Amino acid sequence: MEKASQVSRSGRFSQTTAEDLIDFSESISFDWRLWRQDIVGSMAHARMLQKIGVLTKKNLTDILKGLEEIGDEIERGDFQWDRNLEDVHMNIESALTARVPAGAKIHTARSRNDQIALDMRMWLRDETVAVIAEIRELQSQLVQLGKRSFPTPIPGYTHLQRAQPVPFAHHLLAYTEMLDRDTARFADSFNRLNVCPLGSGALAGSTVRSKREIVAKELGFVDADGNPRISQNSMDAVSDRDFIVEFLSTAALTAVHLSRLSEDIILWSSAEFGFITIDDAYTTGSSLMPQKKNPDLAELTRGKSGRVIGNLVSILTLLKGLPMTYNRDLQEDKERLFDTADTIRASLRITAAMLAHTNINAEVCQAAAEDPSLLATDLADYLVKLGIPFREAHHIVGAVVALAEEKKRALNKLTLGDLKSVDSRFKRDALTVFSLIRGLQERKTPGSPGLQEVKRQLKEWRTRLSHEQNSTADNWIITRFPADRSPPSRFPVVLPHP
Ligand code: ARG
Repeated sequence: MEKASQVSRSGRFSQTTAEDLIDFSESISFDWRLWRQDIVGSMAHARMLQKIGVLTKKNLTDILKGLEEIGDEIERGDFQWDRNLEDVHMNIESALTARVPAGAKIHTARSRNDQIALDMRMWLRDETVAVIAEIRELQSQLVQLGKRSFPTPIPGYTHLQRAQPVPFAHHLLAYTEMLDRDTARFADSFNRLNVCPLGSGALAGSTVRSKREIVAKELGFVDADGNPRISQNSMDAVSDRDFIVEFLSTAALTAVHLSRLSEDIILWSSAEFGFITIDDAYTTGSSLMPQKKNPDLAELTRGKSGRVIGNLVSILTLLKGLPMTYNRDLQEDKERLFDTADTIRASLRITAAMLAHTNINAEVCQAAAEDPSLLATDLADYLVKLGIPFREAHHIVGAVVALAEEKKRALNKLTLGDLKSVDSRFKRDALTVFSLIRGLQERKTPGSPGLQEVKRQLKEWRTRLSHEQNSTADNWIITRFPADRSPPSRFPVVLPHP
């Protein structure tokens, strides 16, 4: 087979390429992953070329059959990728032309520049939907763990110092909310991603009158009403990688959220906290210390956020100095994108699985939350309800805390007399403030860690998530090979509430 370097050089160049050049410039070792999109994209392009008279009906049938065979071979693992053919586009086109002479016509009115932009957008659409489905699964594990733990309280922390008691579930639902914003960001970026660049050519379209709308529609680049969405500037279309930056930045923030959750899991599973126990299957031992049980999966998830953040910085740096339009530098986008997609999806899946195998140590949690000093603020609220300004109440309770420390007694072990010695306005019911259950019941405002409120939220989340889980990501794969089902016409994921 003719070398790629020779396919794109034939006619113009008199010398063959240097051996080193191939090693340095090939991308097939990683962009082979785009084969499905490349084939399905070429099929749509070929159908359009037939409609405008560039291909005969016979040419089209041969080309579609040839592409189908190539796809089957790749799927079976029988296809011989050739590094000399540089990238996925040249590998597939050369294989096609080798078996179907009309294959030589398929590159009419397109370039690898719009082809790679197309393939990447198609690939990322399916990844975006898959990531959202995986976030949903993690949210659902957080909610289930919340339900299993309910109404067990833990101390809530600020500055990693015990602050005020909250149901464990409230802490878990904080992550459910964070992840919900991530799905909203992914869903929003999908809108800008789902625009078809094919037909932009190398940078200046083509004199061949291609019908871009037909291709866009066939490939699922449509709005909610089924109208085709095509890029409006050929120069922008071949050089734009904003959709990659958006995915990488949303993924980076998701990774940061996962990293924070991991940190909490690591703390909670330590002997110092002892709030949770992770099943053996999801922990590791030490090669030296026989007693150790380590939360490696959470540590690795926290660690992997580093490369996901790095990938974002890497692509922004790659893009910042590029003149219009396509520059070969852009080939460097793929490994960073693939790495982020693979890493974030694996981190989401492993975190969800680990939470499904985590138990709450209710007694330890309860004991930690029982610390009466966590209700000092509630004592100030008690004084506020008597009409005392909060600033003054804060000061009075500060003096009560100092008195307890002086007497070496817990706050709830002070007597009414002790309280009155600080401020005579304390009444007999003042000490009832130190009932933890009462403290949790009293919190009734929306978003608060009150028992009723948390229960309501757990229920709402369960309903919402079970709704969305009925439409699993697999049902929503847009680019299928072979195309056994037509692609969905609408974006599949219910948008998160504000
Ligand atoms: N492998 C290339 C990339 O990933 C495809 C586009 C190449 N275009 C070109 N004119 N060399 O960016």
